[in-house]
Amino acid sequence: MRRYLVAGNWKLNLGPRAGRDLAAAVGERLRGRTLHGDVVVCPPFVSIPAVSEAAQGDPVMLGAQNCADQAAGAYTGEVSAAMLKEVGVQYVIIGHSERREYYGETDDQFVRKIDLVHAQGMKAIFCFGEVLEDRKAGRAEAVVQAQLEGVLPRLESANAYNLVLAYEPVWAIGTGETATPEIAQQMHAHSRKITADLLGADTAANLRILYGGSCKPGNARELIGLPDVDGGLIGGASLKAEDFVGIVDGAETAATDR
Ligand code: 13P
Repeated sequence: MRRYLVAGNWKLNLGPRAGRDLAAAVGERLRGRTLHGDVVVCPPFVSIPAVSEAAQGDPVMLGAQNCADQAAGAYTGEVSAAMLKEVGVQYVIIGHSERREYYGETDDQFVRKIDLVHAQGMKAIFCFGEVLEDRKAGRAEAVVQAQLEGVLPRLESANAYNLVLAYEPVWAIGTGETATPEIAQQMHAHSRKITADLLGADTAANLRILYGGSCKPGNARELIGLPDVDGGLIGGASLKAEDFVGIVDGAETAATDR
């Protein structure tokens, strides 16, 4: 049985003050509840300590949105996996489409980053997904296969415990257009099958695959209730406590319905 994971990707929003307020508001709503899954927030680097303090004792774990592809040294502007570990981070998002598109990040970097995250005992959330043009041209499955094949077989020690996948169709990110349940289930099942070929059937069966792209309180239950969808990676809706917790509630309902 795979535990769901709902992770909020705050992107370039919320400094330490606003981040602390949001974490406190989320924590207050979840405090004392026994959840059937895991809840993570991924603030910008500088907000992580304030969020950590505000979430102390609440069922909210800490994540980061990126890390350096080197362990340490003369790499101006970077933040290492070890530094994230030191401030209490447990999950690190790697390979987000915005990192691919705006910062030109490559498979080689994703492999190094995920290995560094794993070496620190943290979990990586590896993102992939097709752009609209690929989907229209009927290449969505092939693109996703290439994205997974370019990274997964090269990882040093990936397993169902330290790796989470996130299917994020780029056309659904921040657009308000969510993947239909049919598309989401089909792409998740496809991704799990490729993962089975690359990392083994056991790992694929136990590994969590999140859906990301305009996930909201109103569609979370249906999406996260799909057989191969194990949670959500939430952008816009993670910036409001009510919406984010509404998505957690949807995941809870889906988990208890199973
Ligand atoms: P939205 O939820 O804003 O569509 O963003 C999804 C995303 O990119 C999460 O990483």
